[in-house]
Amino acid sequence: MTSFKLLLLPGDGIGPEVTAEARRIVDWFTAQGIARFETEEDLVGGSAYDAHGEAVSDATMDTAQAADAVLFGAVGGPKWDGVAYDKRPEAGLLRLRKDLGLFANLRPAICYPALADASSLKRDVVEGLDILIVRELTGGVYFGEPKEITDLGNNQKRAVDTQVYDTYEIERIARVAFELARTRRNAVASAEKRNVMKTGVLWHEVVTRIHDEAYPDVALEHVLADNCAMQLVRRPKQFDVIVTDNLFGDVLSDIAAMLTGSLGMLPSASLGAPDEKTGRRKALYEPVHGSAPDIAGQGKANPIAMIASFAMALRYSFGLGEWADRLEGAIATALDQGLRTGDIMQDGMREISTSDMGAAILKNLQDAD
Ligand code: NAD
Ligand code: IPM
Ligand code: MN
Repeated sequence: MTSFKLLLLPGDGIGPEVTAEARRIVDWFTAQGIARFETEEDLVGGSAYDAHGEAVSDATMDTAQAADAVLFGAVGGPKWDGVAYDKRPEAGLLRLRKDLGLFANLRPAICYPALADASSLKRDVVEGLDILIVRELTGGVYFGEPKEITDLGNNQKRAVDTQVYDTYEIERIARVAFELARTRRNAVASAEKRNVMKTGVLWHEVVTRIHDEAYPDVALEHVLADNCAMQLVRRPKQFDVIVTDNLFGDVLSDIAAMLTGSLGMLPSASLGAPDEKTGRRKALYEPVHGSAPDIAGQGKANPIAMIASFAMALRYSFGLGEWADRLEGAIATALDQGLRTGDIMQDGMREISTSDMGAAILKNLQDAD
């Protein structure tokens, strides 16, 4: 049986609550002998700051580097509002992404049939939705230098963030998007703002060249990022794969989340480049949502984004694509059974807790086996 090292980083707020539900499923796979997951759990975010004075320790980074995959819950919360900028919980997540080289963030937005009426948009706009946002994750304004606040005197300060992209960063994310499009409906929309940003001009140029050189069979359209946001709400099913930069990808994926019914539904995979010798990619799997301080500790969180993130790990890190399909099937069945956490609650359905949803999904997986 193949053995995999899996690092669990539950984090803060609802992070530990949803990670516990994914963990049940991880442990079931090991107990069934489908694969052996050697799990280790560690602190990240505010909980790591409270313990070690930083949002991710060097020791945790070493464990993450050595792992076959990381399963990440969520970080942040009002408790750490006053913490220095480079030590705040979110800095832990950014260091993991940067130091592991996880430049490709895949955020699939799928509207499960049972949730077609749970979105804030009309059924016919979202029914059957299946789009994939490919977000560049280690560049752009998140990491560009200078990044600073300078005191100018006279009660005036100047804040600077820098949006930077090099050709190679755009090339590699474009390739990921085109490759994935070939496994789907063969269409890529590239979103930038070349009308006002130099990085948008380069993004457009590089994506076009990579397309023409290596992927002429894939349909490519360029869309300005603000228009893309509007189109996602107007007629989202026109898209297959959307490739975009770090900041636009952050915002567009929260919009896409609501098309599926809730932010609590959207999983993601953050992948590095394949290793030259082994072909293995470093990977971190994380729900798109945050630590949801408003519902933390109440057993109300929807664990589906987290569990579906583990399904993505089965597909992209562990070569268990069929099991990923089955796990997603178990999620769909729970929704078909009328089981709902509060965020996707609808009339006539049954509101259940985080752990009851986790248990129901596991039972459906077992029953389908
Ligand atoms: P959030 O995603 O935590 O919450 C936004 C809204 O969605 C809240 O009303 C919340 O209750 C709801 N929600 C989110 N996930 C849910 C789930 N699984 N089930 C049910 N409802 C859910 O965003 P926010 O409130 O803007 O941020 C809170 C904190 O989380 C901040 O510190 C932020 O920086 C952090 N954050 C972390 C991550 C991450 O760790 N990957 C992502 C986004 C935000
Ligand atoms: C996300 C989050 C993160 C981001 C934060 C917590 C650093 O919003 O993963 O979408 O902005 O990338
Ligand atoms: Mn976000």
